Amino acid sequence: MIKIAPSILSADFAKLGQEVQRVKSADWLHVDVMDGMFVSNISIGVPVVKSLRKATDMFLDVHLMIEKPVRYIDAFADAGADLLSVHLEADMPPGIRAALEAMDRRGVKKGIVLRPITAAEAVLPYIKDVDLILVMTVEPGFGGQKFMADQLPKIAAIRKYIDQYNPGCHLEVDGGVDPNTAPLVIQAGADVLVAGSAVYGAADPAQAIRTLRGE
Ligand code: DX5
Ligand code: ZN
Repeated sequence: MIKIAPSILSADFAKLGQEVQRVKSADWLHVDVMDGMFVSNISIGVPVVKSLRKATDMFLDVHLMIEKPVRYIDAFADAGADLLSVHLEADMPPGIRAALEAMDRRGVKKGIVLRPITAAEAVLPYIKDVDLILVMTVEPGFGGQKFMADQLPKIAAIRKYIDQYNPGCHLEVDGGVDPNTAPLVIQAGADVLVAGSAVYGAADPAQAIRTLRGE
């Protein structure tokens, strides 16, 4: 079963409550947190996650594009995130471990994320301990970029690792996912698709969500 996670980065933040309602037929809500350091852009933070938590029961999938994310796990857990994902490039391995342990303590689901430059093998030290692996198919920082097809072999390689070491782990793909590229990432083994512009840019978001699921 394929899950669709619309990214609110492509929503109109002035009417976020309504924008969440427009995608309520989706499975998860993807929230992109950017600090202006790990990525050049600055987006939203803890208070917005807190408001979203009050506005919806949807599963909040919070993608942390921030340096040394261990510093903020408690704050995002308090705000009501259901899953937090941290970039492997955002800290040294002990820092990543500490972030995952903090998520465990807080009962939040745990994700790790790979930039396009990072190899599939980088997940191996963590794969048995995480609920989700997120493969970026654009350079993180902005919505509306072109899908990087050269990431497809990496998605397929991680699918094999997941089947071998932790079959319950989700494989999520983020960046440039649209009706043309969704079948490619599903074929490669992804089961959660993030989509910003393809959902919020559509005249009918509910129809766009069905199309991405392959319905
Ligand atoms: C990019 C973000 C993505 C972004 C996806 O750094 O992580 O979640 O919102 O947007 P689209 O689907 O437009 O590429
Ligand atoms: Zn994202």
